[in-house]
Amino acid sequence: MLSHLWQTVLRHSLFNKAQHSTRLRVSRKFMNDKVRKIFWQAFPLWGILLILFWLFGPVSPFLTLFKPGQFVTNESTTTWRYPPPAVSTTPLDFFPDDRRDLRPIRSDEAYAEVAKTLRQMYQLPSDEWPKPHLDPSVNEIQELGPVPKAKFPANNPHSDEKAQLGKMLFFDGRLSRTQQMSCASCHIAELGWSDGRSRSLGHGAHQLKRNTPSLLNAGHASELFWDGRVGSIEELIVAVLANENEMATSPQEIQATLSNIEGYPPLFQKAFNDPTPTQARVAQAIATYVRTITSEPSADFDRFLAGETDRLSDSAIRGLHLFRTDARCINCHHGPQLTDQKFHNIGLVYFGRKYEDRGRYYVTQKAEDVGRFRTPGLRNIERTAPYTHLGFFDLPGLINLYNAGGSRPKPRPHVADSPLLPETSTMLIPLHLNKQDKADLLAFLLSLTERRRRDLMPDLP
Ligand code: HEC
Ligand code: HEC
Repeated sequence: MLSHLWQTVLRHSLFNKAQHSTRLRVSRKFMNDKVRKIFWQAFPLWGILLILFWLFGPVSPFLTLFKPGQFVTNESTTTWRYPPPAVSTTPLDFFPDDRRDLRPIRSDEAYAEVAKTLRQMYQLPSDEWPKPHLDPSVNEIQELGPVPKAKFPANNPHSDEKAQLGKMLFFDGRLSRTQQMSCASCHIAELGWSDGRSRSLGHGAHQLKRNTPSLLNAGHASELFWDGRVGSIEELIVAVLANENEMATSPQEIQATLSNIEGYPPLFQKAFNDPTPTQARVAQAIATYVRTITSEPSADFDRFLAGETDRLSDSAIRGLHLFRTDARCINCHHGPQLTDQKFHNIGLVYFGRKYEDRGRYYVTQKAEDVGRFRTPGLRNIERTAPYTHLGFFDLPGLINLYNAGGSRPKPRPHVADSPLLPETSTMLIPLHLNKQDKADLLAFLLSLTERRRRDLMPDLP
């Protein structure tokens, strides 16, 4: 039936009509009528084979949509599991060889052996892990682990109504003076709640001074912004709404706009027992939503902790160990979110230069705080590029910076005698990591990537 249909198509096709063209006359020499007939009659067969090959063959664009996996059954459940990341997640080529005194490079077999031993050690509960290498100035650290849910403060407890209203307001551009900028303009769920820019564009496409940080786990921080200048998310939201370079609006404008949108007052009534959309309530609702944005234990690292011992590649296991020991990262990046929530200077102050940012100093006015910034959490770090408060770095670049012991630029002559001349943290010292070590650290950082969260824009009233 199919071949009959096909022959009818053929009979009317251009190909047949062009029988007298030179091309066909030439081809007839090579292909007599009979062979040609069989060839086209068999089309349904080889056509289907061709399509099957395209779909499932070795270079199939279709199969790449599905990663291979398998069903794994333990005592209670059966789950679909992807194989652990290949060791090729180690982008060695990111790191050109440098010629200083480095930790010795081992053979592939020796590295595999190290990973095997470490894998056994890190399968134990975290209080039995190898001891971290701590700086003399650091007394205690909290071990790495899964992130707990955020707590809601007594003056703004959680309710579903409030969180849902907060989500709408988070995505609603009408909160800004231009009616076009919402929190979601700069904090994009798919980009780990940052915006992928070195520094974001604010009101009137004006470039802001700092990189947009992730909102993930912001509910756990007691001091927010890169310099810790606000103490609560509510306070931060009020500041962002009023900021001339961000949403550039006022409490009156917000209340007037939202009161005039028919659907909003009833939602405020449900969430606050009062229909008036005051700025304070707007801030409370958005803050409640922001506090719900916490890590999900879906990263390879969490699943490794939960007992899936093959989730981390050999490289990532060695990276985890380096992170806690010889690379000294754990001194500042510790606890479930990999931050001590304190302020340090890693040398990116640009003192007396165009990009100067004194960081924590603006809050405390203390000379030792010049150039200190809040240690960012490292969860989902793969997605929140580019990095640091200026957004100048990619991950390999930052690892090279740490390997050099932080940045210690020579002061510009005109500020060399300034009493505010910043000092890079003495916790940062040259690490002598070789190319493989750096790739291992990177592989560990990449194991902190969580399942992609898509918080789509809700229907707005
Ligand atoms: C124009 C881009 C932009 C918009 C719009 C914006 N933010 Fe931000 N956000 C930033 C930048 C940049 C920072 C860091 C500023 C700093 O540290 O000085 C930041 C910081 C934050 C932080 C602190 C995170 C931390 O760990 O310190 C939170 C929370 C936050 N924003 C929430 C919001 C909310 C809620 C809204 C909507 C009301 C919003 N932002 C709108 C760019 C933006
Ligand atoms: C002395 C404390 C300290 C140590 C040790 C330290 N960091 Fe940091 N880290 C910071 C601070 C502070 C920042 C933010 C700096 C800035 O923006 O100027 C930062 C930023 C980062 C960032 C960028 C995060 C972002 O969202 O922009 C990454 C990634 C990072 N560190 C990884 C590491 C690794 C890997 C190590 C170990 C090799 C390490 N850190 C050691 C304090 C430290």
